[in-house]
Amino acid sequence: MPEDHVKDPAGYGFETRAIHAGQAPDPQTGAVVPPVSLATTFAQEAVGKHRGYEYSRSGNPTRAALETCLAALEGAAHGLAFSSGLAAEDAVLRCLSPGDHVIIPNDAYGGTFRLINAVWGPLGLAHTAVSLQDLAAVDDAWRPQTRMVWVETPSNPMLSIVDIGAVASLAHARGALVVVDNTFATPYLQQPLSLGADVVVHSTTKYIGGHSDVVGGFAATNDTPLAERISYFQNAAGGVPGPMDCYLTLRGAKTLAVRMDRHCANATAVAEMLAGHPAVSRVLYPGLASHPGHDVAVKQMRKFGGMVSAVMSGGEAAALEVVRSTRVFTLAESLGAVESLIEHPARMTHASAAGSPLEVDPGLVRLSVGIETLEDLLADLSSALDAVA
Ligand SMILES: Cc1ncc(COP(=O)(O)O)c(C=O)c1O
Repeated sequence: MPEDHVKDPAGYGFETRAIHAGQAPDPQTGAVVPPVSLATTFAQEAVGKHRGYEYSRSGNPTRAALETCLAALEGAAHGLAFSSGLAAEDAVLRCLSPGDHVIIPNDAYGGTFRLINAVWGPLGLAHTAVSLQDLAAVDDAWRPQTRMVWVETPSNPMLSIVDIGAVASLAHARGALVVVDNTFATPYLQQPLSLGADVVVHSTTKYIGGHSDVVGGFAATNDTPLAERISYFQNAAGGVPGPMDCYLTLRGAKTLAVRMDRHCANATAVAEMLAGHPAVSRVLYPGLASHPGHDVAVKQMRKFGGMVSAVMSGGEAAALEVVRSTRVFTLAESLGAVESLIEHPARMTHASAAGSPLEVDPGLVRLSVGIETLEDLLADLSSALDAVA
């Protein structure tokens, strides 16, 4: 990594770091936005004598700016950007060896489950899916070969909350690493490394990018040997983001805090409306006092995020009808951008978990509450729900 790769402007607030970390004016031109460095290779004065960059898979100035910024947001010494969230997860999982065992949440994102089960399983990585809210279950699942606990909080799509500090204490007492997928919370709402996690991963495709126009991933840690391993895999396996993708992600990160404040405010109002609607049998939003993880969420999160899930009283038929009939909420996969999205996890994002312990209730609808005018969002949802009540 280039020397100034991870400069933490200690002492600055979150928003200041989002706008300035890794983004000093260009020394040559004074440009206040980091240039998109499209070059794949960099001139060397003599063999091995260069200015920190040799070949763009190994290191790229725009990527370095993004990595420095996101590491600063997570309070991490090291940050590594990837071509997708799953590429970041894959690089972290490569730190394990055949025969190792990983404990995963029984409501992990379907793609994470598929990666661990169907890609890494045949290569010798064992896993057990348990409820990470139940530390006795984690204890039961523990094996002598357990090397990692994979946490996702809030989880996708059940919005369950895991006590990061409690899981980290348990895992560290047994010499295992704790990885937290912080995609739903973002570093603005929750900073897992400060709560005891060893590695934090993101799908930056979601809130950090924030505009549904770039796929990306990120991993951060304060553990230097671990960072060196992940960095090795980033280069050796090559799941790196292109410079334009890094630029777009960095542009999104600058407004993360203000967007998250509005996402959270709109999601709270949507969750409250859903909780009072007869078409809905259960609302899953960690900001509601009725949510089983509410107290832990209050302890470890600044606010409760922009994702809301709800179980329809009319089961799958009602869920399919609601997702089909909203107008402002667009029926689509993904989440975390400015526009509101609605989807049916059992048939869409979590179809890969069908038939597994992670299978999703077919009556569940997942909402990514955007930052449009709140009244428009409430009216849109109410009319779709009224039709199935
Ligand atoms: C919680 C979570 N983690 C990881 C991923 C994977 O990220 P990507 O789609 O950028 O590979 C997703 C994607 O939806 C996700 O929701």
